[in-house]
Amino acid sequence: MRRRWTTAPAAALAAALAASGCGGGTGGGGDAAQVEVFSWWTGGGEEAGLNALIEMYEERHPDTEFVNAAVAGGSGTNAQAVLEGRLQSQDPPDSFQGHAGAELQDYIEAGYLEPLDGFYDEHGLREALPDQLLEQISYDGSVYSVPVNIHRSNVLWFNPSVLEEAGIEEPPQTLDDLIAGLEAVEEETDAVPMAVGAQWTVDHLLESVLLGSLGTEGYNALWEPGADWGTPEVAAALADFEAVLEHTQEESASEDWQEASRRVAEGEAAFTVMGDWAAGYFDELGMTAGEDYDWAASPGTEGTYLWLSDSFTLPVGAPNPEAADAWLELAASREGQDAFNPLKGSIPAREDADPEQYADSPYLSAALEEWQSGPELAGSFWHGVAADNRWKNAIDTAVGLYLQDGDTDALQDALNEASQAAQTE
Ligand code: GAL
Repeated sequence: MRRRWTTAPAAALAAALAASGCGGGTGGGGDAAQVEVFSWWTGGGEEAGLNALIEMYEERHPDTEFVNAAVAGGSGTNAQAVLEGRLQSQDPPDSFQGHAGAELQDYIEAGYLEPLDGFYDEHGLREALPDQLLEQISYDGSVYSVPVNIHRSNVLWFNPSVLEEAGIEEPPQTLDDLIAGLEAVEEETDAVPMAVGAQWTVDHLLESVLLGSLGTEGYNALWEPGADWGTPEVAAALADFEAVLEHTQEESASEDWQEASRRVAEGEAAFTVMGDWAAGYFDELGMTAGEDYDWAASPGTEGTYLWLSDSFTLPVGAPNPEAADAWLELAASREGQDAFNPLKGSIPAREDADPEQYADSPYLSAALEEWQSGPELAGSFWHGVAADNRWKNAIDTAVGLYLQDGDTDALQDALNEASQAAQTE
């Protein structure tokens, strides 16, 4: 197909990209009238947020075809493998979703990403984003991605009617309260006490249980070089994990997070621990906060934001760097973030977003307020902040074995080995 430059003549654009430090990849072989954006946002809630951005992109750039290269599977379990294959074979999309933190550092170190310093200067982004987030997307003083949101991982979603039926008056504050609550649901109702889905949702649950049991400092210390996971404290956290998992449903492995969340909102389950993308999904299902579902910080984690951030990149060799640049500009903008996040169930990465856009959602307005009040921070390991892909996959393998053999000591040994291996990478 004939190459068409949509935003600027090629020579001017190449000069602008070079001056901006935006790199521009090799630009080889792409169709400039197209932008291919890679993510895993295909399901309930997620797709709606992405679609809002796509619509804005298409309005602003009617001559560029938007290619939505999303690969299904919550938390990118399938997408990340597909992406790695493409990056290794030098067939990158024009932009892909990569979590701020250790996951992004992996991509940077592998040489997959262009620095975006010029882009940041041009759009005043260093001033618009929180410093701690900038740190997570920087390497050797350069910035490498455009964060679009802040998600919270440690949310306990529950069904108020099921809790009432089980005689639970308050959402559980501690892991002991949670375990007692799960037992009460088991005894008093027909509902599943704790809904989970595919294995990654159990990894997701693990991070909230570790945080709830070890506290913020103890959890954060697990990701420091040389961290010892063989301690009695980690053993106690894993005992809590075991107790929680005893109250999950059996037929879950083929389901994703939407199914577990739906079970809660429809009263088939009492609780699920899931990131706040569930808030976007509940809205999409037409569920009412406070009636069909409610939420609290996952037990033992009140006051701490177990955070993660979705960010978009400019891969080295992106076929259409100028169209990718326009995508990043939209993702970085206040308008783009305020269109995307209320549907996605996340709060904006930008500090100047319009709170009014979040006021209709009781969950999001509370989340925004809490984030702005400066909570304690812990980085999600499952969603790329605290652990790189290799470490995360080693934990996933250990959890998978544990789900088969139920051996908590072996789980702890495997987690400790994974931590030691990560330090020597
Ligand atoms: C996370 C991602 C979120 C959401 C979630 C479930 O890793 O950051 O945006 O997509 O997975 O798929």
